[in-house]
Amino acid sequence: MTASETLLRDLSDDEARAALPLKWGSTSPDVLPAWVAEMDYAVAEPVRDAVCAAVLASHTGYPALDAGGALGTAYAGFAERRFGQRIDPALVLPVVDVTAGIRLVLDVLCDPAPVVVPLPAYPPQLAVVGITGRERWDLPVSPDAERAGIDLDRLDALLAAGARTVLLTQPHNPCGHVYTRTELEGVRDLVLRHGARVISDEIHAPLVLPGATHVPYLSLPGTAEHAVALVSASKAFNVAGLRCAQVLCADPATHRRLAGAPEVRNDSWSPLGVVGAIAAYRHGDAWLDALLARLDDQRALLGELLATELPQARWRRPEATYLAWLDLRGYGVDDPTGPALRHGVRLSPGTDYHPGLPGHLRLNFATSPERLTEAVRRLAVSLGSGSGPR
Ligand SMILES: Cc1ncc(COP(=O)(O)O)c(C=O)c1O
Repeated sequence: MTASETLLRDLSDDEARAALPLKWGSTSPDVLPAWVAEMDYAVAEPVRDAVCAAVLASHTGYPALDAGGALGTAYAGFAERRFGQRIDPALVLPVVDVTAGIRLVLDVLCDPAPVVVPLPAYPPQLAVVGITGRERWDLPVSPDAERAGIDLDRLDALLAAGARTVLLTQPHNPCGHVYTRTELEGVRDLVLRHGARVISDEIHAPLVLPGATHVPYLSLPGTAEHAVALVSASKAFNVAGLRCAQVLCADPATHRRLAGAPEVRNDSWSPLGVVGAIAAYRHGDAWLDALLARLDDQRALLGELLATELPQARWRRPEATYLAWLDLRGYGVDDPTGPALRHGVRLSPGTDYHPGLPGHLRLNFATSPERLTEAVRRLAVSLGSGSGPR
């Protein structure tokens, strides 16, 4: 047995329906859910054991409301081991989730000016900017571009026109793009020239797959004063329901402004989320490595399935995450998730991520090889392609 087989356990359908009430529980039992970004795998043992022990010991009160501490040290160790990044543990600030962290940063640090959001984007990021009273200025990535990086000329123009914040998602959901150091330096140089800020959503950083390397934005020289990063164990360790993400700063004054915000601005996080995150960051490496091996296999399987079942599909092979952004314009359907759902597979419509863009969808491949095969087969049949019913 490989490490991936011994450490990573697939949930059965019944287990998944109970464990993942949104992804599975709200999907009809004859439909395969490949939509919400959660994985069909049992939680890592060190995380499960730590959370169970905390509940057994009645650790269910309010969390301590300070930054740093054991969580800061655990994240700093993880970042050093996984990304070679040096972080001051005292500057790790808990928040309830990444999107709330982005809202906090916009409210507290950012000028009341337009925010650049590269498209496609994780849908709550499309909404969070407006909630803080700012305009969202979209920066679409062409679906035909070879790489899903940022158009620096366009970014330059938006910053020159008055945008003051760039919301980066790196690694990217839904494109699976891992920004290279050169790409990030290009963004940094423009942001510095225009006196703007970067909010770097790095929730998917632990999910960089073999072949790519995550470069934390804050690891670039010259970023400490204009950037913060959002991280969390939630995507990589499947613990979104535990409710704890972290805001990273490299500049103590920036951290003080965020940590000093009125409590009501930073909806408090869960003590069980803190326990789960500490366990994941301290003791989760072996499980995470097994997960990455499985996701690498799933990515390869998806490539084979697309070639045989959906030959007109186009995709950029994701460099990170377990999400595939599929361009199905070749099949002539505006929203391919409609027919797919009627054929028994639930996927995320592309227009949720990139308003107005036809023919795209997001497929979650963090499941078993059997389910992935069946999901792609159903999608293919729904579009009049593939080898048909078995
Ligand atoms: C890029 C990105 N940011 C944030 C989130 C959500 O994180 P949270 O639940 O911590 O807000 C997701 C979830 O899939 C995501 O893909």
